[in-house]
Amino acid sequence: MAKEIHTIGVLTSGGDAPGMNAAIRAVVRQAIVQGKKVKGIKRGYAGLLQEEIIDMEANDVSDTIQRGGTILQTARCKEFTTPEGQQLGAEICKKHGIDGVIVIGGDGSFKGAQKLAALGINTIGIPGTIDLDIACTEYTIGFDTAVNTAMEAIDKVRDTSTSHERCSIIEVMGRGAGYIALWCGIANGAEDILLPEKYNYDEQALVNNIIVNRKKGKKHHIIINAEGIGHSASMAKRIESATGVETRATILGHMQRGGSPTCKDRVYASTMGAYAVDLLCEGKSNRVVGYRHGDFVDFDIDEALAMEKEISEYQFEICRNLSL
Ligand code: ADP
Ligand code: F6P
Repeated sequence: MAKEIHTIGVLTSGGDAPGMNAAIRAVVRQAIVQGKKVKGIKRGYAGLLQEEIIDMEANDVSDTIQRGGTILQTARCKEFTTPEGQQLGAEICKKHGIDGVIVIGGDGSFKGAQKLAALGINTIGIPGTIDLDIACTEYTIGFDTAVNTAMEAIDKVRDTSTSHERCSIIEVMGRGAGYIALWCGIANGAEDILLPEKYNYDEQALVNNIIVNRKKGKKHHIIINAEGIGHSASMAKRIESATGVETRATILGHMQRGGSPTCKDRVYASTMGAYAVDLLCEGKSNRVVGYRHGDFVDFDIDEALAMEKEISEYQFEICRNLSL
C-alpha cells in the first residue's frame, strides 16, 4: 500500500535559477490545499544536514513569484554524496516528521533524491537549471529567463560591435551544455556558435569566416562561445592577430542566473511544483517531473538519469545558414 504523506519538505539545490521561487510557492500552496504540512529545507542538502528546517505557511511565499534566486537559498554539498551523509539526511527528515521531499535542481540534485528515496523518504525531483541539460525534459526552470537575459545582453554588445566594425566573442553559461549558446546563436543571428557538443577547435575556420564576411560587407561578426569551451579572451587575441579585425571578448557570467522570471518560467515552474505535490499525495516516490511533447509528465529518477540528450543537428545547421 502506498505510504501516506503528512509533511512535505522542499529544497533547492545546485545552481539557482529564475522560477525556483514560483516552484517553491506552488509546492507550499498546493500542499496546503491537499491538507499537508510543509517544511522548507534551507541551503539544499547542506542545510538538511545542518537541520536548517523551517515551517512554511501560505503567506511565507507571498510576493515571491516574481523574484529571481531562491528564497530557500541553495548550496552544493559534498558530504551528501557519501552514504553516511545520505543516511544522516534521511534520519533528519524522519526526526522532523518529513515523509516526502521535493528537490528542485539538476541531475546532481536528483541523484541525492534517489538516495533519499532508497532510504525510505519519498522524493520527487523538479528540473531546475538554466542549462537545459536534463535529458528527460524539454523544459527546465530558469532556462527561458536566462536565455532571454543573454539574448538581450548580446543585442547590446552587437550595437557597439557594429559601430566599431569589430568581431565580438560573447561567452554564455551552460557548464558542459550548449543550449543557451545555440538558442542565442539563432535568436541573435550570430555568425558562429561554439558548442561543447559540436566544436572541433578549428580556429582557422572562424578566421576564414570573418574574412569572407568582411568581404561581403558585414560590419560585425558575433561569435557565441559556450562556457564549456571558454578561453574567450585568449581566443579574441588570436583571432584579432590572424584577421586584423579588432576583436573583443565579453563574458556574460552570473547575470544570466538572476532577474525576474519570464511568464513561461513562472507558469511552468508553478505547474511543476503543484504536480510534484500531487505525485507525493498519490504515494509516488523516486520520480522526476518533466515536460515533453506539450504535456507535464513524470519519470522514474533512475530512468531519467540514464537518458541522453542531444543538441538538435537541424537547429545547429540552420543557425549557420541563417547568418549568411
Ligand atoms: P545540479 O543539481 O544542478 O546538477 P550539482 O551537480 O552541483 O548540481 O549537484 C547538487 C548537489 O546534489 C551536490 O552538491 C550534492 O549535494 C548532491 N549530489 C550530487 N551528486 C550526488 C550523488 N551522486 N549522490 C548524492 N548526492 C549528490
Ligand atoms: O548549472 C548552472 C550554472 O550556472 C552553469 O551554467 C555554470 O557552469 C555553473 O552553474 C556555475 O556555477 P557557480 O555559480 O558555482 O559558479
